[in-house]
Amino acid sequence: MNQTQSLLSGFDTPAFTKAICQWYRACGRDLPWRRTKDPYAIWISEIMLQQTQVETVRPYYERFMDTFPDVQSLALAPADQVYKLWEGLGYYRRASHLMEAAAALMADYGGQFPDTYEEILKLKGIGAYTASAIASIAFNIPKGVIDGNTLRIISRVLDCQENIAKDATKKLYQQIMDIWISSEDPSDFNQGMMDLGAMICTPKNPDCASCPVRDFCRANAHGTQKLLPVNIKNKNKEDIYLITALLRYKDKYFLIKNQEGLLADMYGLVQYELESPLSFEEEFYKKYHTGVRLLEYEKEFCHIFSHRVWHMSVYDGELDSADLPQIRENLYTWDQLMALPIPTAHKKIIRAIHK
Ligand code: ADE
Repeated sequence: MNQTQSLLSGFDTPAFTKAICQWYRACGRDLPWRRTKDPYAIWISEIMLQQTQVETVRPYYERFMDTFPDVQSLALAPADQVYKLWEGLGYYRRASHLMEAAAALMADYGGQFPDTYEEILKLKGIGAYTASAIASIAFNIPKGVIDGNTLRIISRVLDCQENIAKDATKKLYQQIMDIWISSEDPSDFNQGMMDLGAMICTPKNPDCASCPVRDFCRANAHGTQKLLPVNIKNKNKEDIYLITALLRYKDKYFLIKNQEGLLADMYGLVQYELESPLSFEEEFYKKYHTGVRLLEYEKEFCHIFSHRVWHMSVYDGELDSADLPQIRENLYTWDQLMALPIPTAHKKIIRAIHK
């Protein structure tokens, strides 16, 4: 017997899956992207829901769908308009991947969303979770979603102590999800598991008394639910120390459009991974052939990304001249600046200093 079979031995999969689906139909959350089976709409919602809370996504989703209701409108959209709609949502690479995928959908699929898990997975910005979510919700394909919520629920239901930080555990639990989901409606099962994790089987203080599957839950039977899941990570986030400057020339601000990296295509403050304001001035001169003076230290701002933390020592600064095109082209009035897509990490600095 393999580990999947041994974990599921004596477990009533059809009754469990049925209980999840029935509970979802009666008690699942009413969310805007659940009122449609349009794979485009479900795709947009799932991309926005990557690393982002449901309540944060709600207004962004509504605005995005009002502006770009279908693949074609997104494929034709100016990038700045898409980034502007994304501003504040974070992880901006998602927006550029959406545009790239929309172009590929027009070029390779005649604007139609593909209807198999494998084809969906090929689209830019779509990993296993998102492909499973779209395939199951839009096309009823039996592919289970694996994320923090489902890893926790499986650990508890099967009273299993495998470390969910390990890839091997995720693989094992994917097999279990795929067996469970095949037994009834895949769309309702995946969304039921998502809602159970968000509303009942929460990380702290799970509400076992209200749980639709408490009679199936081995952790509940053994009283181990608050000890699970086992989640031992050994990787720390990378700390990055930056000198960041809000640079002005007369009444305009100097911002640069990022060419690559985490925040490609967003506009940001100039910042270098250096240790002193003096070396910032030298580095800036090397790059732009224009003098800059940092006038005042403001304070340290931190911004936490998924795998790194920016520690930004923020200074106010002034440019000596705007004679060169590489300076002139990057100067913006306050109103122009407000219309640009700027990542939250920098937007909060600009707002704080502009006050
Ligand atoms: N998180 C990711 N996908 C979701 C969905 N479809 N509904 C609610 N939360 C989610």
